[in-house]
Amino acid sequence: MSDHSSQPSFDRPTDPAGETHQTHLACLHSGGPTPAGAPLVRTITQSTAFAQGAVGASTDHQYSRVSNPTVADLEQTLGDLEAAPPGVCFSTGMAAETALFLTACRAGDHVLCARSVYGGTTRLLRQVLSGLGIESSFVDATDPSRVRTSLQHNTRLIFIETPANPTLELTDIGAVSTIAREAGALLAVDNTFLTPVLQQPLDLGADLSVYSTTKFMEGHSIAMGGALVGRNPELLDRLRFTRKCTGAIQTPHNAWLTLNGIRTLPLRMRSQSETAARLAAWLKGRAGVRAVHHPTLYSGPARALADAQHLDGLHGAVVAFEIEGGIDAGRRFSRSCRLCALVEHVGSVETLLTHPATMTHAEVPAEQRAECGVTDGLLRLSVGLEPVEAIIADLSQALDAAMSTSSVAPEGGEKDGCASAA
Ligand SMILES: Cc1ncc(COP(=O)(O)O)c(C=O)c1O
Repeated sequence: MSDHSSQPSFDRPTDPAGETHQTHLACLHSGGPTPAGAPLVRTITQSTAFAQGAVGASTDHQYSRVSNPTVADLEQTLGDLEAAPPGVCFSTGMAAETALFLTACRAGDHVLCARSVYGGTTRLLRQVLSGLGIESSFVDATDPSRVRTSLQHNTRLIFIETPANPTLELTDIGAVSTIAREAGALLAVDNTFLTPVLQQPLDLGADLSVYSTTKFMEGHSIAMGGALVGRNPELLDRLRFTRKCTGAIQTPHNAWLTLNGIRTLPLRMRSQSETAARLAAWLKGRAGVRAVHHPTLYSGPARALADAQHLDGLHGAVVAFEIEGGIDAGRRFSRSCRLCALVEHVGSVETLLTHPATMTHAEVPAEQRAECGVTDGLLRLSVGLEPVEAIIADLSQALDAAMSTSSVAPEGGEKDGCASAA
């Protein structure tokens, strides 16, 4: 159980191999070894309120909008994964981001955001926070010098995502953290795609790691959640205060499901990343495929950055590729897939396919989509645990169908509904 201590439950060795080892251990044993007689599986506390004994007497938990033992357990685990104090958990990744922006910024402040981030982040900044007077602008963060020249006198927060959604371009977290520190701004890194198992933003200089735990962390498509993890206790307290005021805490049930999902996170990240690398190599050079994006295919400085920034020689389970024939070919491809499910989601044990231009990034203005490489023919694959041969067989027949202009929609009409729910 969590004791809300500000120390990780396990000592953190300084060598990178030992560090990976400790992160993997924390996925299973955060809070320390299981004492005799204790349940192997974490307990869940569904109660909304906790008895207080006497007026003014302090107890660990009083009301589950503020804190809850199961949510605190998850928070300790997430902190342990990054050698940090307990993180702050939210109902969704977007609730975490909202709390971050509302905590770091006031009306008149500015957020400098990478141009390639999850479409919901762009939407929140452009369509909600701008109305509250929080300004934002977007920059090609793959070039740190552009980040520096895009700073404004009122920049309070730099927000990046690496590898970025959906093009998988990389940003040098260390270089941008130096720029942020010199400017007196916070740096937040959306680490949803790699998780702490494959990338440790705080060790590289970020102030906060941002997660949609809905994705790889939970991993089985059964629980929504979000989290912010950092090492500054005062900032964490402010985030908790915003969460209490806005009522954005995670439910105990979702926290419990996420705790259970995390137990297999290192195994899933390894297996899914290895399959993704094999698929990327298979897709490259295939007829009808114009470009493939996965860090294993990068060369030069981008490859060097991937090798330096990512852990265990693994580069994540998301592959993006662009097929010839634009939006029509993209639609034909997505409706022809049988094994790979068409969904607005990543990070599950099944292989998932997304057509960003009509799904996750549909509300991102067309010119910004073009600038950050979200072309009409771009497809995003979140690779699951299926045998690689089965995924190749599915992609192969879908590619044939996409390249054949005579292919027709299956019964029931279009499979790729274009409403952007996520
Ligand atoms: C990289 C990334 N960050 C944040 C989010 C938002 O998370 P949630 O859907 O849990 O609100 C998503 C959702 O797809 C995402 O892919």
